[in-house]
Amino acid sequence: MGILQDIRGRAKKYQKTICLPESLDDRTLQAAATCRREGFGPIVLVGDTAKIKARAGEIGVDLGDTLVRDPAQDPEFEKLVATLVELRQAKGMTPDKARQALQDGIMYAAMLVKLGKVDGYVSGAVHSTADTLRPALQVIKAAKGVKTVSAFFMMVLPESSPYYSRQPVLFFGDSGLVQNPSPAELADIAIGTARSWTALVGSKPVVAMLSHSTKGSAKHADVDKVTAALELVRQTDPGLEIDGELQADAALIPAIGEKKAPGSRVAGQANVLIFPDLDAGNIAYKLVERLAGATAIGPLISGLAKPVNDLSRGCKAEDIVDAVAVTACQAAANTL
Ligand SMILES: CC(C)(COP(=O)(O)OP(=O)(O)OC[C@H]1O[C@@H](n2cnc3c(N)ncnc32)[C@H](O)[C@@H]1OP(=O)(O)O)[C@@H](O)C(=O)NCCC(=O)NCCS
Repeated sequence: MGILQDIRGRAKKYQKTICLPESLDDRTLQAAATCRREGFGPIVLVGDTAKIKARAGEIGVDLGDTLVRDPAQDPEFEKLVATLVELRQAKGMTPDKARQALQDGIMYAAMLVKLGKVDGYVSGAVHSTADTLRPALQVIKAAKGVKTVSAFFMMVLPESSPYYSRQPVLFFGDSGLVQNPSPAELADIAIGTARSWTALVGSKPVVAMLSHSTKGSAKHADVDKVTAALELVRQTDPGLEIDGELQADAALIPAIGEKKAPGSRVAGQANVLIFPDLDAGNIAYKLVERLAGATAIGPLISGLAKPVNDLSRGCKAEDIVDAVAVTACQAAANTL
């Protein structure tokens, strides 16, 4: 079974409640109906109920008993306002500003997540990455023990890949969010991406901190950054299988790993690849997608206290369904 089918299967089992705040988007409405048909947990749409139902009717989407929360009609609205003020007072949030901010569906969804009314949200079919993530970063915040939220791609290799039989799925982080991470940020990226591997794939993460150098073969401040991050991860999460600095071939190919990093338990076995910066991570995922024919799923978000995932504005309804399933699995991992 493919990883996405597996994740969809688990989403059915977990029955998590996921909010889709871009509720007048046709693909979002189609995805909400598919999630319902597939037997996922409840979907919560956000906005004017009459308008949402009318649009669903126009495009032939049966929303059935899908929940809709309209901020303008929400009896708990003032509670959300008070909590948002409490959370963001130091940043100048006032009750009036909070009422205004909560008219925005994504901030409203972030507050529903914060207050435990829903388990996560998925957005980005209409909004930019920044507009999707900013409310989550502002109110949901990073998970305990992690300061930096990051983005990774789930890279699903084609069966024709010579690497497929060894490892059909790899995670690449950070390929989408943190521009030029410090050692501490890089350590958080590694820990967050590894936790996401556990939540989504279920097997043990084996994390390689990538570089242009393997175990001191090159000397440069860029290499020092990676080894400093590795030390921080080892202090924070001593149980995590992680090693570095490793070149990509040493991380992935056992014969090369044995030669370049003898004795490493990660070299040749890595399934989570941590890139030294956003340029490397973003370029790498696009090259593997285009040249190796891998399917790149993401950007998926690691390191938040509760799960939120972003979409590409060119996404299809089925991509939204997959992101809902991923979010449900991340939510379940938080509570297992
Ligand atoms: C992350 C991002 C959404 C932040 O948005 P922004 O408008 O710059 O917002 P700010 O920098 O003011 O940050 C907003 C809040 O999020 C927090 N934050 C920002 N990035 C964070 C991160 N990686 N981890 C944790 N918190 C973060 C800030 O500390 C701030 O919190 P505060 O308001 O409580 O002080 C933005 O940098 C972004 O869109 N990055 C995408 C990078 C990119 O271009 N990717 C494309 C390649 S695929």
